[in-house]
Amino acid sequence: MSFRIFFAPSGKQGVAAEGETILSAARALGVDLDSVCGGRGICGRCQIGVEAGEFAKQRIQSSLSHVGAITAAEERYAGRRSLASGRRLGCQARICGDLVIDVPADSQLHKQVLRKAVSDRAFVVDPTIRAYYVEVAEPDIENPASDLTRLLAALNSQWGLSAIEVPLAALPGLQKTLRAGGWKVTAAVRDGKELTALYPGLQDRLFGLAIDIGSTTIAAHLCDLTTGETIATAGTMNPQIRFGEDLMSRVSYAMMNEAGAEAMTDAVRKAIDALAGELADTAGIDRTLIVEAVWVGNPVMHHLYLGVDPVELGGAPFALALDQAYAPHARELGLRIAPGARAQSLPCIAGHVGADAAAVLLSEAPQSRDEISLVVDVGTNAEIFLGNRARLLACYSPTGPAFDGAQISAGQRAAPGAIERFRINRATLEPRFKTIGCEAWSDEPGFDASVTGICGSGIIEAVAELFLAGILRSDGSLVGEVAARTARIQPEGRTFQYVIREAEPRIAVTQADVRAIQLAKAALYAGVKLLMEKFGVEKVDRIALAGAFGSYIDPIYAMALGVLPDCKVENVTSAGNAAGTGAMMALLDRGARAELGALVGRIEKIETAMAPEFQRLFVDAMALPHKVDPYPELARHIDLPTLSAPTPRIRGGRRR
Ligand code: FES
Repeated sequence: MSFRIFFAPSGKQGVAAEGETILSAARALGVDLDSVCGGRGICGRCQIGVEAGEFAKQRIQSSLSHVGAITAAEERYAGRRSLASGRRLGCQARICGDLVIDVPADSQLHKQVLRKAVSDRAFVVDPTIRAYYVEVAEPDIENPASDLTRLLAALNSQWGLSAIEVPLAALPGLQKTLRAGGWKVTAAVRDGKELTALYPGLQDRLFGLAIDIGSTTIAAHLCDLTTGETIATAGTMNPQIRFGEDLMSRVSYAMMNEAGAEAMTDAVRKAIDALAGELADTAGIDRTLIVEAVWVGNPVMHHLYLGVDPVELGGAPFALALDQAYAPHARELGLRIAPGARAQSLPCIAGHVGADAAAVLLSEAPQSRDEISLVVDVGTNAEIFLGNRARLLACYSPTGPAFDGAQISAGQRAAPGAIERFRINRATLEPRFKTIGCEAWSDEPGFDASVTGICGSGIIEAVAELFLAGILRSDGSLVGEVAARTARIQPEGRTFQYVIREAEPRIAVTQADVRAIQLAKAALYAGVKLLMEKFGVEKVDRIALAGAFGSYIDPIYAMALGVLPDCKVENVTSAGNAAGTGAMMALLDRGARAELGALVGRIEKIETAMAPEFQRLFVDAMALPHKVDPYPELARHIDLPTLSAPTPRIRGGRRR
């Protein structure tokens, strides 16, 4: 006898034989119902609900009595772990009437996860590694097959996995694990093809690492590969800083010192391994349960982590040793996680546009939108993407370290004590500011006066405010007559400075600082404009600012200074740590990796150094905010100054 069965929410419908399990019917109909134990009633992944009632559209009268009695395995499972009321184990519940079955989200193998913090992009949890519980035949003197042969036979007969490769690293523990588990083990298998690890008994929680190797900091996230949840996050300074503050000085260190590259490789590998240990400790898990790592970094970081000398990245034509996604075994990179785990890098896009930028694309997805998006990852250098569903362009712009606070007289990295917000009173020309780590402004009670310097977002606001307050001309020079109105403007050699604070450490914005910021912002803007000209557009619909710097920059000030082109202020967003997020998406969803692989091939890479128009665009972009480009959207929020109107007011917009 057979019965009608309907699965929600997939909408799949068919017939099932009397006595068949719901798991078996689901598989026959291609319904996404999870299982790690292969239907033995021990993993609990196959939980379903029975919907009771009359379902006219499906012509089904469904009832709880249309499934068989609760089995001993279900009782055992419910005694060990919680089985929500009304739920049954799909592998145990047998069909004895027409049924409408609900497959809850946590029982679906490919879960949709919507991460609010991640550009509202839904993605599927469909990791490369899956757990398979198997019962392996015990050794038999009559049948002298090896332990490995019997394990592989069990994976084939119980899960249909054939031709599984076994890396050497997964072999030494194999016999011990089989015996410790009483011949019942869980195999973590990558892509249905390679054994990553073997655990005694049922091991239904596996974990992955997403790592973003920045030149200043390294961030790592530990994710549950079943739920997609981030279990723990940790960060550390990149220990390569002791070999050179910025990328080029590290490349120079590799050039000038024999074994210099090896020393930097060793330092970053140790730091990442320590982060993995820290995350496992925080989550209270054994680090061998981490079965995969996905990592990203700019080309220099990428090459150094792999142990490739970055010397070719130090000059034109900036040749990468490899650009494709690459997945060596983690242990080859000194990362002690599951024995056969791989550490997958995302692809690099070009000599200056690395796997971190590729991860930003995954997270921000300009390629999935109709409108024109500009995605800018600002760090020591800027990676810029412009495009939409039809076409995507990329370039790199050498902004230099000024946006990081380097090359600025009182500049420093973003750290407690650094000025990050800055305003000038339009009437008195007096400054007020806010530092990292203190909520109060400098003219408010509770302000902590231990100011240490000025960071990237602070110097951008300071230069923009000097311009908006009518102290600086559009060309960055001092408006001479303003000096008579305030003692804040003091001579410095043959130029001037605006003194923010006289007490030690003395903090001022000098003419040289203004010039450094102009050069950095002109390089960035010229890169953006080059892509806009190549694309054939005069305006962009939305702007996403990635990277730590992007998180703190105020779009109004970024436009007022001419770092960014004009755009509706509400359409300028911070993408936060988009590279880390992209790495996480690639870790959790193998479809995202495939999408990125295909996308990288169709990105049009524009080399700024080779573009004859770059110099013209750069010169025009030196002016504040720009020599010729208008800012109508920005003008809705602020009065841009002219020399005849030197004391503008901010009308509204985002003020932080
Ligand atoms: Fe594991 Fe049902 S499939 S409990």
